[in-house]
Amino acid sequence: MTLESDTESTAPADREEPSEKLVTTGSEWWRSAVIYQVYPRSFADSTGDGVGDLTGITNRLPALAELGVDAVWLSPFFRSPQKDAGYDVSDYCDVDPLFGTLEDFDRMLAAAHETGLKVIADMVPNHTSDQHEWFQAALAAPEGSPERDRYLFRDGKGKNGNLPPNNWESVFGGSMWTRITNPDGSPGQWYLHIFDTSQPDLNWRNPWVREQFHDILRFWLDRGVDGFRVDVAHGMIKDPAFPDYTPPTEAGSMGGTAIDHDGVLTSMAVPEETPDPPYWAQPEVHQIWREWHEVLAEYEGDRVLCAEAWVDPLEKMALWVRPDEMSQAFNFDYMFTDWSAPAQRRVIDRSISAFAGVGAPSTWVLSNHDVVRHASRLALTTENPQGAGIGPKSAGQPDRVLGLRRARAATSLMLALPGSSYVYQGEELGLPEVIDLPDSARQDPTWFRTHGEKYGRDGCRVPIPWEAHKPAYGFNSTGNSWLPQPDDWAPYARDSQDGVPGSTLELYRSALRLRREHGLGTGTIEWVTGYGAEVVAFRNGDITVIANTGEVAVELPVGDIVLSSESITGGALPADTTVWIAD
Ligand code: GLC
Repeated sequence: MTLESDTESTAPADREEPSEKLVTTGSEWWRSAVIYQVYPRSFADSTGDGVGDLTGITNRLPALAELGVDAVWLSPFFRSPQKDAGYDVSDYCDVDPLFGTLEDFDRMLAAAHETGLKVIADMVPNHTSDQHEWFQAALAAPEGSPERDRYLFRDGKGKNGNLPPNNWESVFGGSMWTRITNPDGSPGQWYLHIFDTSQPDLNWRNPWVREQFHDILRFWLDRGVDGFRVDVAHGMIKDPAFPDYTPPTEAGSMGGTAIDHDGVLTSMAVPEETPDPPYWAQPEVHQIWREWHEVLAEYEGDRVLCAEAWVDPLEKMALWVRPDEMSQAFNFDYMFTDWSAPAQRRVIDRSISAFAGVGAPSTWVLSNHDVVRHASRLALTTENPQGAGIGPKSAGQPDRVLGLRRARAATSLMLALPGSSYVYQGEELGLPEVIDLPDSARQDPTWFRTHGEKYGRDGCRVPIPWEAHKPAYGFNSTGNSWLPQPDDWAPYARDSQDGVPGSTLELYRSALRLRREHGLGTGTIEWVTGYGAEVVAFRNGDITVIANTGEVAVELPVGDIVLSSESITGGALPADTTVWIAD
C-alpha cells in the first residue's frame, strides 16, 4: 500500500488545504526531543501511602533534568476510580486525590518549566469512567435521549435483546458490550466499551462531546501544559453499522501488533491488505485531530499532540501526523522489532520514509507502561502478544543478563536516531519486567477479564528504586508500595549506579549528553555497509553508530569510541553491543 493511495482513500473529498497558521514550521522542540514517561503511581510517593503522586514528581524533577531529557509525559493523574490505573477518568479537569491537588499540579508544572523540562499530559478521550457524571446521566436518561447519545448505546440482539449487539471482543478480554439495568429495574440497552466495562466509549460523532473536549484541552493548556499524549487515538470512531468482526489473529489486541513467527519483523500481525477492524483506524478520526490541532494553535509556543495509535502499516500510521493533525505518533512497529540487524534496518528505513512522507519526524520507543520492559522483552524466546505480559508460568522466560545487554545495545542505537525518542521510567536503570508478582497483588483488568490467562501489564509498573538502602528503595519513606517491589532490586537503584562507570544510568546520561552535543536528534542517517548481515551501521553527522546484533565479534574501525553499551577490548565489537565513534 503506498502512502499516496492511502492518503486518497483516507482523506475526505472535501478536505481543505490547511491554513498557514496551522502548519508546523519544522523547528519545533518536539521534533528531536527525548521525552521521559512518568507513570505517576510508580515514580515517587511523597505521602507514603504506597502510590506515587505529583509532589513526589516535583521532588524528583532535578534527577530528570540531570539525566538530560527534554520533556516529561505524565500518564493520567485526573480524578478516577482507578479501575484501569487512571485511564478511566471521572473528571478531566481535576486531579485525583490519590495524586494530590490542582495546586500540586501547578507547582509541579512550574518547577518543571523552571528546570527547562516541558510537560505533556495524557488525554483519554475514547472513553470515560462509568462513574463520570456524563455516563451516570446517560444511565438515568431514557433511550434515545441526548444524554444516551453521548455514548454508544445499542439494543441487544436475540429474544428480549439479551444478546450483545455484535461479537466484538474487548481488548482486555470478554465482550465489548455490557447490558444496563433501567432505572425501573428492567433490563435495558447495551453500551460499548473497547476496554473494561468501567470504561464506556464516547460517541465522537456527537458535536457536544467534541466541544466538551475542546474545553478540556483549553483547561490544561491555560494552566501551561506543553501538549498531550492522546490515548487510543485510533479508536474513537466506530463503523456505524457495527458489523460483526473476528480479528484474523488472537495477537495484536491493541490494534495489530505482535511478534511474528520468524521473529524477524515483530509487528503487523494483521496483514497489510486486511481491512481495518470496524473499531480501529476509521477515516473519520482524522477530522477530530484537525479540530484538536486548531485548539492547540490558539496557544503560544509549540504545543505537541502525540498519538497512541496502534495502526499498521507505518505508512498508514503516518496519516495521523499530517501537518494539520497530530505532531507525533508512537512508533510501535519499531518497539516490537526484534533485535536483529536486517529487521532493525528495515524498520528504521521504513519509519523515516513513512513519516518524512508527511513532513513529520519519526519517533522511537522501546518501553512503556503497556508492554513487557525491553530489558526482558528482548530476551523472550517465544511469542508474547502485546498486553499478555509475562508471569511465572509463561513460556519463553527471558535471560536477565542477555536481556539487559540487548536493551543497552538497543537503547544506544535508538538514541542515535534522528527524531524524537521516548524513554519509560526505570529503563535508565535497566529494570527488568517483574515476572513473579504474587497473583493476589495483580491489578491489571486484563488479568481479571481473562481469568488469569493473560498476566497483563503490572510487571512493568512496579514502583521504581531510587536508593538501595531506604524503605521501598526510596520510592517513599514508609516502605508501602501498591505493587510489591522485588527483594533483589538494590543494584538497580539510582544511587547504586550513580557515578559508576558502565552502569546503565551512566550509559543513558552519556548517550543523552552526546546526542545533544552532536545534534543527533535533528540529523539524518546514512547507512554504512561492509560490516556483515548482523550489523547495523550508520552515520548521523559526525557520529558513526555500529551495533552488533549477531553472536560473532566484529572488527571495529580505528576511531574515537565516545559511547559503548559494553566495555570494548582489543578493537572488536562483541555480540549485542553498540558503539558510537566520533570523527
Ligand atoms: C491505552 C493506555 C492503556 C490503557 C488503555 C485504555 O492503551 O496506554 O494503559 O489501558 O489505553 O485507556
